[in-house]
Amino acid sequence: MEIIVAENAGFCFGVKRALELVARAANDSSRPVYTLGALIHNPQEVARLEVSGVKQVGGVEEVEEGALVLSAHGVDPGVEREARTRGLPVIDATCPFVKRAHDHIVTLAREGYSVVILGDPGHREVEGLAARVSGKAAIVATAREAERLPFRKRYGLVVQTTQRPEALREVAGALAERCRELRVFNTICEATMKRQESARELAERVDAMIVVGGRNSANTKRLVEICAATGTPTHHVETADELESAWIRGAARVGVTAGASTPGWIIDDVVSHLRELEAEGSVV
Ligand code: F3S
Repeated sequence: MEIIVAENAGFCFGVKRALELVARAANDSSRPVYTLGALIHNPQEVARLEVSGVKQVGGVEEVEEGALVLSAHGVDPGVEREARTRGLPVIDATCPFVKRAHDHIVTLAREGYSVVILGDPGHREVEGLAARVSGKAAIVATAREAERLPFRKRYGLVVQTTQRPEALREVAGALAERCRELRVFNTICEATMKRQESARELAERVDAMIVVGGRNSANTKRLVEICAATGTPTHHVETADELESAWIRGAARVGVTAGASTPGWIIDDVVSHLRELEAEGSVV
C-alpha cells in the first residue's frame, strides 16, 4: 500500500510564527505566559505548550501578571486595549494575513460600504474581523444567506482566511444581485489555497483519504469537505489512534493531508500507524 502525504500539509507560516513567538516568550522565565483561548486550533499541540508552562485563560481579567499572547486568529481590539490598560505585556501573534483582512474591512467601512464577512459565525477570526467595525457587519456562511440580505447601494465583502474560493465566488455572485456596487477583497490566504488544492489533487488519485487536524479547526474541516467532494472515502482524525483498519482495507493508495495547525509529529504518527495497520495484516 502506498501512503502519499499531500505536498502542502500541516503547519502554515502564521501558525509557525505564533508558536515561535510563544516559545521565545516561554524561554524568558522572568514572567508567566498566557494565551487568550487556544493559541491554535490543535488540542494536542496546545497540550504540549501547557507542559512547557504556557497557560490558557478565558479572559484578560484572569491574568494578574505575565505576558499575554494574542492568538494567530486575531482578537477583538477591545481585548488588546484592556490588556495594555492593565499593564500586561502583549505578544501579538496575529497572522499578518489576518491583519491584512482587518485593514480591508476597516477600509470598506470607512468608505461607506455595507460590510459582509464570508465566514463561520462564532469563529474567533470572524469575531475579531467584525469587532474591527464595531460589529457592524453581516456574517454569512453561504450564498443562500447572502441572497437574504436586504438590497443596498454598496456592499463590501471580506473573507475568513480559511474559506474555499468556490464559496467566495458563490457569495460574491449572490451579493452582486443585492446591490448597485460590490467591492470584494479576497482575503483567503495563500497557505489555505495551496493546502486545499493539494488535498483535492491527492484525493482524486487515491482510494482513501485521511485528513488530520483539530475538530475545532475551520481549515481542517474545509479540507475534509474538499476531499469528500471528490467521491473518495474521507476520514477526519485528530490523532493516529483514531485510525480504523477498515478504512484502508483493500486500498492500493492512501492519501494523508493535514490542516494548517496540525504539527508534523502528528502527521508522522498517522503515517507510521497506517504502516502498522498494514503490517498487522489488517489490510489485504
Ligand atoms: Fe495565517 Fe493563513 Fe495560517 S491566515 S495562520 S497563514 S492559515
